[in-house]
Amino acid sequence: MNSQTLREARKYEEATEKIVTEQERPAFHLSSRIGWMNDPNGFSIYQGQYHMFYQYHPYSCIWGPMHWGHAVSRDLLHWEYLPAAIAPDCLYDRDGCFSGSAIEMPDGRQLLMYTGVYNEVDPAGGKKEVQTQCIAIGDGIDYEKYEGNPVITEKDLPEGASRNDFRDPKIWRAPDGSYRCLAGSRPADGSGQLLLYGSDDAIHWTFRKVLAENRNRYGLMWECPDFFELNGKWVILTSPQDMLPQDFEYHNGNGTLCLIGDYDQETETFTEQYNQSIDYGIDFYAPQTVLSPDGRRIMIGWMQNWDTCNLKTSHGKWYGQMTLPREIWVQNGRLYQKPIRELEELRRNRVEHRDVKVGGPTLLEGVRGRLVDMEISIRPDEAEEMYQKFSIRFARNDIYQTTVSFRPHESVMKIDRKFSGSRRAVIHQRRCKVLGKHDGRINVRIILDRYSAEVFINGGEQVMTATFHTPLEADEISFNCTGTARMDIVKYDLQ
Ligand code: FRU
Repeated sequence: MNSQTLREARKYEEATEKIVTEQERPAFHLSSRIGWMNDPNGFSIYQGQYHMFYQYHPYSCIWGPMHWGHAVSRDLLHWEYLPAAIAPDCLYDRDGCFSGSAIEMPDGRQLLMYTGVYNEVDPAGGKKEVQTQCIAIGDGIDYEKYEGNPVITEKDLPEGASRNDFRDPKIWRAPDGSYRCLAGSRPADGSGQLLLYGSDDAIHWTFRKVLAENRNRYGLMWECPDFFELNGKWVILTSPQDMLPQDFEYHNGNGTLCLIGDYDQETETFTEQYNQSIDYGIDFYAPQTVLSPDGRRIMIGWMQNWDTCNLKTSHGKWYGQMTLPREIWVQNGRLYQKPIRELEELRRNRVEHRDVKVGGPTLLEGVRGRLVDMEISIRPDEAEEMYQKFSIRFARNDIYQTTVSFRPHESVMKIDRKFSGSRRAVIHQRRCKVLGKHDGRINVRIILDRYSAEVFINGGEQVMTATFHTPLEADEISFNCTGTARMDIVKYDLQ
């Protein structure tokens, strides 16, 4: 039986989603059905479809008591909304159903594992969240919370770990068929760690070990972990809070972290070898992955970030969208990403320009739009000195623009949405140190979907993502260079 709270949310979303016109949403990125969206949750395959749940507050465009929104897709680009899956309606989750994951059970049902949150009033009158891990089981539409919830509580924490910061369980099956789950936690040193739990039935859990420790290296608390094997290595993805910057690799505030290493399955020991940011742009957080039936590891992140999410839309009907699904792989100790290949099926109207000399503002025939997939290769002009800066401007007209620019001498790429129409003093720019030789050659693939840009640098070695709320009539794309450079471009509309 669905609770009153869930029935109300379902009624509300069904009644209000119609106020959002097609043009007010991205075309192929999943956005909130109505109201607020944050993290992707329960990204998985169930009964032949991809399921995506999300942190959801339907009643306003700001974060509130968390529900799980729900959508399904066959190609990860066309999404169909389903009714909200769970709502904060029990004592142990009355202040929110926080992030978690999903898995198909051997009996054909779908299990959701999430963090239940309730606020406890401390003697000084302040509030503190108590966080436990809970499950709900269902048929892909309706879910019943397990009567024995919560299934992992403070009793199951290692010594010193906080019961106030204990969340975001990622569940998977071990090779022997038993279950594992990994959750974010705050140890006594105040930073972050990831706790590994095991279970035979996904209901009764025991603590196994601390899988990874932050030791105050990358921010403090680690949120939303994911863990999987990829190209012979093992990868931990997590989103640290309260980061300090490290060169151009990590920025202040909420960031993302990818640890690549080895994993001994016998002793369940992870050995770190490499670390990097997952995305170097402005709006990216809390990614989750799924393994597609043809063996691709696909990642989707929240295409916003806590430190920058005050950049509100003018319509105020929905807020929050997911990134493109990205195929990820490990190569030479780095995480690479590219848009899922299904995106190529949306390509229309191919336009190509080769060996264009750019020495000032340049517009190209057929190159404009807000639903765009374009690949641009830039190189120095052999007859000239090395150029100083190359810029690509889009979502542009006389008033607005967002810019991606590259300075070969410093090997720095910058994304800048200062002139995108924002009226808030949030972060508008971010820089990324482009890896490789400083020879002025660079290749970028840029995907625009009305209100966002995802910039894949040098075959996906680094990615920069940003959202903007620029009116759609600003659809010019232009190029500029200080000095001279040569470029090739292949551009498609996406439909
Ligand atoms: C990450 C996060 C999670 C939490 C959720 C609450 O963005 O803070 O740790 O489960 O959002 O909405």
